[in-house]
Amino acid sequence: MSKRLLLTGYGGFVAGSIVWQARGDWDVHALSLTEPPSRSDGFTSYQFDLRDAEQLRKVFDAARPDAVIHTAALADIDYCERHPEEAVEINVGVTASLATLCRDADTRMILCSTDSVFDGVKGRYTEEDAPNPINTYAETKIRAEQSLLGAVNKGLVTRLSLVMGLPVLGAGNSFLAKMQNALEASREVLFPENEIRTPVDVLTLGRALLELAAMDCTGIVHLAGSTRLNRYEMACRIAERLGFSTDLVVPTDSNAMAGRAKRPNDASLDNSKARSLLKTPMCNLDEALDLIFQLKEEQDHGNSRNQT
Ligand SMILES: NC(=O)c1ccc[n+]([C@@H]2O[C@H](COP(=O)([O-])OP(=O)(O)OC[C@H]3O[C@@H](n4cnc5c(N)ncnc54)[C@H](OP(=O)(O)O)[C@@H]3O)[C@@H](O)[C@H]2O)c1
Repeated sequence: MSKRLLLTGYGGFVAGSIVWQARGDWDVHALSLTEPPSRSDGFTSYQFDLRDAEQLRKVFDAARPDAVIHTAALADIDYCERHPEEAVEINVGVTASLATLCRDADTRMILCSTDSVFDGVKGRYTEEDAPNPINTYAETKIRAEQSLLGAVNKGLVTRLSLVMGLPVLGAGNSFLAKMQNALEASREVLFPENEIRTPVDVLTLGRALLELAAMDCTGIVHLAGSTRLNRYEMACRIAERLGFSTDLVVPTDSNAMAGRAKRPNDASLDNSKARSLLKTPMCNLDEALDLIFQLKEEQDHGNSRNQT
């Protein structure tokens, strides 16, 4: 019989990849805030605000999960800066409620945290490096990490690099989808040259999170791609891959833009630990783009077959 997975943030970008790849292996109980995207696969979905701790407890008790993957968050950095109380309620409070449930039931829990917990001065961060938040979002994510690690025996914090890909299911917050739309309409796209990252594709990430859900390792692991580059270079590589001129890709400095929360400059992550722990390969940029566009082709092909 399949193991039971409780997944938060269903409808989000990362969770879409997890649900899609969990089919057949996990009995998924997927929690979303807004109307879930219509999906035909057999799994159970619930729709409510995770800040409703009583409802969360009822759903947790009904699902009796073997593992929880907590992707739900307020992940918009500028929104968090403008709404710090809401960011604390959702990013810290909800994680703490889930951690208490997992502690009491001795359940495996995985939190999706972020490379943004680092200040971006050093780069190539390992799991041993000390976080140092420079914006509200990062502060809330560090507090979420602490609430998990302080409570759950079977807890694991995963710190994700910039996530790259087209939404596998539903919508989700995909910069690549927005970029592709803009380039197709011959509109310029702005990408910061100051932000150095180790982008990870959403398919690899979903697979790695599911693999980790079935393992016993605890502590922290960085889930990042194997190519380190700035976001402007990354966007140029993607534009070329899509067959567009890089003239439409414009370099910016995200920390010189008024009214935005500060971003870490070099938040690149060292993925050595993930590479030694996981069977899932941590791809370089070209391999990641291959995965993303192969799936897109397969999905487009499947859709056109269904229409004939
Ligand atoms: N994407 C990245 O580049 C990136 C990088 C580093 C770390 N991360 C982390 O990875 C995780 C997943 O990111 P993502 O890109 O998938 O984010 P996303 O697309 O914004 O998805 C987050 C989901 O959280 C749900 N949510 C927010 N508040 C909620 C509430 N009060 N109750 C119930 N659900 C709530 C949202 O639900 P609705 O859709 O129903 O509104 C949304 O689907 C987040 O924890 C983020 O901090 C992401």
